[in-house]
Amino acid sequence: MTSAREITGATRVYGIVADPITHVRTPQALNGLMRRHGVAGIMVPFHVAPAHLPMFMDAMRVTQSFGGLIATVPHKVAMLDLCDVVSERARLIGAVNTVRREPDGRLAADMFDGEGFVAGLREAGIGLNGRRAYLAGAGGAANAVAFALADAGIASLTIWNRTAAKVDALRSRLEVLHPGLVVGMGTSDPRGHDVVVNATSLGLRPDDPLPFDAARLEAGVIVAEVVMEPETTALLAVAATRGCRVHSGRPMLDCQLGLMARFMGMVS
Ligand code: ATR
Repeated sequence: MTSAREITGATRVYGIVADPITHVRTPQALNGLMRRHGVAGIMVPFHVAPAHLPMFMDAMRVTQSFGGLIATVPHKVAMLDLCDVVSERARLIGAVNTVRREPDGRLAADMFDGEGFVAGLREAGIGLNGRRAYLAGAGGAANAVAFALADAGIASLTIWNRTAAKVDALRSRLEVLHPGLVVGMGTSDPRGHDVVVNATSLGLRPDDPLPFDAARLEAGVIVAEVVMEPETTALLAVAATRGCRVHSGRPMLDCQLGLMARFMGMVS
């Protein structure tokens, strides 16, 4: 039997495409998963600039040994229009993060960020049904999280974002799949909610401002991050001092690895 570690002519090739790319952790995780499952496949990094993404995707379309792709910053939005079959959910979110090459060369795509986020909370024993949620952000990650929070049965959603027009747009798209959900336009004050989520990109850099007025956080509230690096963002540090239950951004990726692997046909 061929070792899953040895690369042969029959190895299926999977990729992660990003710019920059050296920080990504998905290859280690999915190569480990393939080894554990005895899959004759490998995931490799593709460092591709946004201007070259269409050319790159065309190359993947005609590469018959290619199995699928993970897309991350900054490609999640642009990737959507470069794929042939996109789930309704991903289309409404406006971004994809996982692509599968069908045997006929078509590229099918879906978005698992939101599901991963909710699964991470669930694994930590945090349920969302009936909760009042506050979401900071209305970009790609926030859209994915908003749909997943709605799917998970939250009672209401308050969205706060620097650019208000993006909140309106997200609200209209949420209404298509969740017509009964109460969605409000928030302020930087997160009070009056059970679960508070940062889905902006603020927190990645040490000099970033906080995404909302964290000094007003109430004790006992769950404060969750989408930012994965650093693990303890400035927001989570403040939330902990306020007596909140904090949840880092790391489980979001860990919890969607299985979903991504199944979607790409890497494992069944
Ligand atoms: P991602 O795919 O990581 O979500 P994105 O789609 O560019 O990236 O969204 C970034 C989010 O962080 C947006 O909600 C953005 O607010 P705007 O919609 O107003 O741009 C938010 N964000 C980024 N930098 C910010 C800053 N300096 N102040 C406030 N919000 C910021």
